[in-house]
Amino acid sequence: MTVEMETVRVAVVGAGLMGCGIAHVFAAAGNNVRLYDSDPGALRMVRSRIDAGVVELGGSEQIIDLIEPVSSLDAAVGGADVVVEAVIEDLAVKRQVFAALDELAPPSALLATNTSVISISAIAESTSRPERLLGTHWWNPAPLIPLVEVVPGAHTAPEAVERMVSLLSAVGKRPVRLKRDVPGFIGNRMQHALWREAFAIVEAGIAEPEDVDEVVKASFGARLAVLGPIENADLVGLDMTKAIHDYLLPHLDAGVSASRIVSDRVAQGELGMKTGRGLRSWTAEEADAVRARLVRHLRRASIGGQ
Ligand SMILES: NC(=O)c1ccc[n+]([C@@H]2O[C@H](COP(=O)([O-])OP(=O)(O)OC[C@H]3O[C@@H](n4cnc5c(N)ncnc54)[C@H](O)[C@@H]3O)[C@@H](O)[C@H]2O)c1
Repeated sequence: MTVEMETVRVAVVGAGLMGCGIAHVFAAAGNNVRLYDSDPGALRMVRSRIDAGVVELGGSEQIIDLIEPVSSLDAAVGGADVVVEAVIEDLAVKRQVFAALDELAPPSALLATNTSVISISAIAESTSRPERLLGTHWWNPAPLIPLVEVVPGAHTAPEAVERMVSLLSAVGKRPVRLKRDVPGFIGNRMQHALWREAFAIVEAGIAEPEDVDEVVKASFGARLAVLGPIENADLVGLDMTKAIHDYLLPHLDAGVSASRIVSDRVAQGELGMKTGRGLRSWTAEEADAVRARLVRHLRRASIGGQ
């Protein structure tokens, strides 16, 4: 007897970087995806973006056949089992999308927001179905990074969380549930604690930016994909961890706003690779090489499935 894999009808709202990546993942697992964007230019780009994603990130050329760009929200979400919102990171715009979904999406549809940091409960204030709405925080590039953080808002039903976890597992992702909605969820809280300290070391003149990156890449960064901080603490022993923390933590940066070296460069228009200079200087070739190196590494690690 063959067991048919369940397929779902997915609508993705916002056809930018993340919306196209999320559509890619659902389609690669055999699901039909409708993709809507309020910008007709973004919709026109879908085909070339997905095709480029297949070449760069992997997957079959048939993925595009399951993805239909549509020019109205109504057409995208009518009949959908799951709606994933991936519009710009703006609370008012996200609230407008979910208010419109009240009228347009089937009552049974699971509603997800891909916000990076905004409170799920705050977004859910605009919907009459907060029990169906939850956060799914995907990471870029969505086809290669396995994690999706699943975040309940204050009124999300536990069944909605379980349903989303099982859908994400079925498309090859590694979903992790949060017990509640906090800014930055889990991943971005830890990632930006590390960045804050990296910037503080440069700002204090302790090391050059290149050397800060080299320390991470050539030491604990090399272990991180297979050894999380909590299992690492247990591995080395909590007695040593306690001794290190009691001595070291008072010396770490505890700033509550963006570091001065970052704010100053932003004020000067030095935004990083896209302007040729940020905390380090970048030619276009060097920037391309960094992106290519990242994709090569992720594909070699093949931790993302596909
Ligand atoms: N870029 C990342 O690495 C990353 C990672 C995780 C989560 N996110 C989050 O995912 C979301 C999307 O980010 P992105 O990087 O794909 O942005 P993006 O700018 O590439 O795409 C956003 C798209 O939303 C469209 N849009 C704006 N308002 C709309 C509306 N009312 N209805 C329909 N479409 C609308 C825009 O035209 C644009 O095409 C944001 O909430 C972001 O914080 C981004």
